[in-house]
Amino acid sequence: MILLEALQKKNVQKRPPIWLMRQAGRYMHEYQALRKKHDFMQLAHNPELICEVTELPIQAFGFDAAILFSDILLILEALGCTVRFDEGKGPSIEGDQLQAKEILSELGFVYQAIRELKKRLKVPLIGFAGAPFTVASYFVEKAGSPTLSKTKKRLMQDPVGFANIIDEITKATIVHLNAQIEAGCDVVQVFDSWAMHLAPHHFEAFVVKPIQTIMQGLKKCPVILFCRGAAERLSVLDPHGISFDWQVDLQKMRQKLPSVCLQGNLDPEVLLTDPKTIEREAKRLLDSMRHDPGFIFNLGHGVLKETPREHVQALVSCVKSYG
Ligand code: CP3
Repeated sequence: MILLEALQKKNVQKRPPIWLMRQAGRYMHEYQALRKKHDFMQLAHNPELICEVTELPIQAFGFDAAILFSDILLILEALGCTVRFDEGKGPSIEGDQLQAKEILSELGFVYQAIRELKKRLKVPLIGFAGAPFTVASYFVEKAGSPTLSKTKKRLMQDPVGFANIIDEITKATIVHLNAQIEAGCDVVQVFDSWAMHLAPHHFEAFVVKPIQTIMQGLKKCPVILFCRGAAERLSVLDPHGISFDWQVDLQKMRQKLPSVCLQGNLDPEVLLTDPKTIEREAKRLLDSMRHDPGFIFNLGHGVLKETPREHVQALVSCVKSYG
């Protein structure tokens, strides 16, 4: 299990493990075909379909890990909101209050899928959740927002109210992640996609603290933290792995952070070029992290939906034949 070894900084093979964020998604024609029959929420609520979509990229490309097919916004649904993904519009959320619901039964279909996947998969399974700040931002904005202006206004004008929202989400997230671990996930990743918008004192209160609470509340399991634009700021939490975006030089990061597993960080746009360019850029990254026992090859963010599948195949072949 090369992924688990890398997370312990004990990978002695010549190449790193590879998986890609959003590896189960719209760039695959098999996924598009399923989406013609079911909308996203139907897929994400049906244990058998969750298994099928999770397995698609493993069967097609031979990644070293599977990531559960689900979404970070399902927790808001479990907390009483209505979550919709309308065609071409991104997510929208209805509901002004979070209700303390029974997360384990609300999201039981997720854990059922994990138990089934564990019977079928030969590679480790990664579970996940959104970090409280990113989930709270969708709850406050009611949709995706590039600037988070409503969220920032709310947290500055009503810090106590905002902290309550973060607390509710944090509690639910601990239950949700622990249930994923108990059902069989080998690793969990926490996604903070929007935290880079915050000033340092807000980042400390609404990003670092709640993620720390989550980590303290988790059953034993390796944790990877993803924090777009600000990943290094989470190294104080001492997770097993940190996922970096492509603005960062991983080799330099290794000097700053000698004891953590580093994940990343090819620019997803590289996969829109051509096989030769992909190979050149991938080799550059592979060479820069050569023989590092704690490196996981990934992208700096999710696979773009325009990505040709032959390009994903070229990348996986390049990484798997390295060394
Ligand atoms: O990585 C994987 O393949 C596993 C599944 C996964 C999805 N979403 C499936 C999905 C994961 C790990 C996520 C995480 C997620 N979801 C994040 C954090 C990571 C990041 O991208 O920054 C965020 C912010 C979301 C919220 C979300 N879900 C948005 C903004 C959207 C719509 C636009 C988009 O990016 O696709 C989704 C929908 C979604 N989640 C899709 C998939 C495959 C596409 C739905 C479709 O079929 O139309």
